[in-house]
Amino acid sequence: MQGNSSPVISNQAGLHEQLEAMVRKHLQTQFQRPIAEHAKQAWQQLKTEWGGARPLVLDSGCGTAQSTLLLAEKHADCLVVGVDRSIARLEKRKQLPSNAFLLRTNLEDLWRLMAADQVQLAYHYLLYPNPYPKAAQLRYRWHGSPVFPVLTQLGGELTLRSNWDVYLQEFQQACELAGKTDSSLIELPYQPQPLTAFEDKYQASQQALWQLSVSL
Ligand SMILES: C[S@@+](CC[C@H](N)C(=O)[O-])C[C@H]1O[C@@H](n2cnc3c(N)ncnc32)[C@H](O)[C@@H]1O
Repeated sequence: MQGNSSPVISNQAGLHEQLEAMVRKHLQTQFQRPIAEHAKQAWQQLKTEWGGARPLVLDSGCGTAQSTLLLAEKHADCLVVGVDRSIARLEKRKQLPSNAFLLRTNLEDLWRLMAADQVQLAYHYLLYPNPYPKAAQLRYRWHGSPVFPVLTQLGGELTLRSNWDVYLQEFQQACELAGKTDSSLIELPYQPQPLTAFEDKYQASQQALWQLSVSL
């Protein structure tokens, strides 16, 4: 892996000054965007594959699904579902074990469908989401999105990794505003087996990587 990846550059000095107001607004309102028909079909497909028997793990924004493969080995008693909206990325996947499954859909819709059916996850992985580092892009970050309260309702042990520590600090504060106070933020030690393609390229570029763990 070539180490030429640029670090995150932001015009934010620290946590976004509108973070608390935005999260509180989303906690008090319901995300109204209509759910796409293809997302309903994707949820049906997942329910059929799952059957409800095994603990469920989501690898949200799995990209090329390197992490889905490794997480399926780690959580051998669970069904691990990699979800991404990009068919180009999903098509680069390797052969997956029988307890892993990939779904092409958008997370805003899938999470709402799962929460409406009162699904509780065992583990939830959000690995290297796009940081949207400009201050004007707060609403595109997962904790600035109207779907954030639904993400917290899905439960489970959440692992969020990023090369931008501010993203994780903001996400942690948003969780606290949602009443999810059991969390820890660490600098990730060197990973001899990177979990994802982004982790691999950031590590090869000697960037500091961060991990937030939250009990939802
Ligand atoms: C920066 S990439 C990281 C991919 C992978 N986790 C990794 O670390 O290599 C973010 C991924 O999230 C996916 N993604 C972003 N927003 C999404 C959404 N709303 N629904 C589904 N996938 C989404 C993108 O298609 C992309 O593959």
